[in-house]
Amino acid sequence: MLQKVVRSTVIDEPIERVWAVLRDFNSHDQWHSVVDQSRIEGQERSDQVGCVRSFTLKDGNRIREQLLTLDDREHKSTYCIVDATVPLQRYVATVTLKPVTDGNRTFWHWESSFATPPGMERELRDMVATGVYEAGFANLRQHLGLGADLLPRGAPPMPTALPMASRRAVLHTYGGPEVLQAEYAEAPAPGTGEVRIRQRAIGVNYFDVYLRKGWMPGMLPLPGTPGMEAAGTVIDVGRGVNGLLPGDRVAYLGPVPGAYCSVRSVPASWCVRLPAAVDDDVAAALLLKGLTADMLLRDLGHVGPGTRLLLHAAAGGVGLLVASWAQRLGATVIGTTSSEDKARVAREHGCQHVIVTRDYRFADEVQRLCGGADVIVDGLGDAAREQNFAALAPCGHWISLGQATGGLQPLDPNLLVQKSATFSRPVVFAYLSSPEQLLARTQRLWAALADGSIRKPVIERYTLDAAAAAHARLESRQSVGPLVLMA
Ligand SMILES: NC(=O)c1ccc[n+]([C@@H]2O[C@H](COP(=O)([O-])OP(=O)(O)OC[C@H]3O[C@@H](n4cnc5c(N)ncnc54)[C@H](OP(=O)(O)O)[C@@H]3O)[C@@H](O)[C@H]2O)c1
Repeated sequence: MLQKVVRSTVIDEPIERVWAVLRDFNSHDQWHSVVDQSRIEGQERSDQVGCVRSFTLKDGNRIREQLLTLDDREHKSTYCIVDATVPLQRYVATVTLKPVTDGNRTFWHWESSFATPPGMERELRDMVATGVYEAGFANLRQHLGLGADLLPRGAPPMPTALPMASRRAVLHTYGGPEVLQAEYAEAPAPGTGEVRIRQRAIGVNYFDVYLRKGWMPGMLPLPGTPGMEAAGTVIDVGRGVNGLLPGDRVAYLGPVPGAYCSVRSVPASWCVRLPAAVDDDVAAALLLKGLTADMLLRDLGHVGPGTRLLLHAAAGGVGLLVASWAQRLGATVIGTTSSEDKARVAREHGCQHVIVTRDYRFADEVQRLCGGADVIVDGLGDAAREQNFAALAPCGHWISLGQATGGLQPLDPNLLVQKSATFSRPVVFAYLSSPEQLLARTQRLWAALADGSIRKPVIERYTLDAAAAAHARLESRQSVGPLVLMA
């Protein structure tokens, strides 16, 4: 016979606030005291019907549950147990919220039916009713009441806002990819001007490799967490934040590392709200790299019809975006890659010519193909220094974007004068120093995605725990396009 458990309560909070927590199928390890760790399998979104959450209870039991329905209008969700080490069989549960008209409060109804092994009916009914549902009511009340979650726009933060658990990739020593280790840490409540974000997708950038190697210890002291960008959902907002609300989907990039984690508080001024058409993983794959492309093409390269553009690592994360956008602007794009496979992808993304070289020899071919480059986008650094200068056209502009082969040695201005050349060493964050700039560049990026100037990227995905593998892959020169960590 099926057992039935029904419990309900009233929460002294508006329905949107309660629903913002409950609709996230993976939020329960942040508010329910019996849940230890939870993750969504297969890199699905935690509000995707059909997704499976896999979690451990504090008592060591393991459960996998599947989200069956999610109705934002009715504030209702249904889920079932797929398998579990507790003997709950055919367990199906429904959570329903209704607004209480007397005051801005929420009625929460939680019910389930399930079968049990003979003789365990009462024990398991009590466990579900008391240990799961009634404890859950109390825990969520505490979670909300102590300010660990949503705050209405303009409201001051709760004085006792709780830190939350955050999974993060951290390094305790500089070195190879293996120094990146996954561990738990606290994600403090958002401070003034900050928002706390439940991160879903984190962009991996070559810059993260420099930090991991210890090339910029001032920027990433130990122990430290790399990562400059991510996308996810706002959990709560600090004092003085306007324009962002709990539940908003956002992406951010910023000059202070720390993005390789599942929950993070960052300045609201780093964030952009995401259009519905842009998924979290696409945002994490595109934001920093796409805004870099915008800076390169518009501000530095002044790329337009006829520009001869030499683009290194043309099949990389930044490379594919620059290639296709530059082609759309009318440039002739000459890419370099280290393999024929990458050359094929670079051609598909707008490179008219691709020079395949593993040892940075390209200048003669560039001169032969087009008489020299008006603009060079150089993410290579020192090993390509002489070849880059030789590949420049008269009055050309050499943009030293990065240093995958090692730091570029200082350039003698008298070298540049031989070609009346110009040289720049930009950092994208300097081109995003006001909210207006961030907004304008981001809007151009989404517009470029919508009108086909750049393509939706093919993303290499890794779990957050596999950040070391993602770094090894990026440094191997095998990766094509962007890499993203899923939290
Ligand atoms: N200044 C800024 O604000 C800014 C912003 C974003 C990115 N960047 C720079 O732009 C460049 C591209 O960044 P990304 O994140 O999109 O990386 P990426 O291009 O996806 O990966 C780096 C690429 O560099 C090439 N490479 C050449 N020699 C290498 C070596 N010895 N070791 C490893 N890779 C080597 C590889 O392509 P091949 O094998 O095909 O040569 C590799 O795929 C990086 O230099 C990065 O620092 C700078």
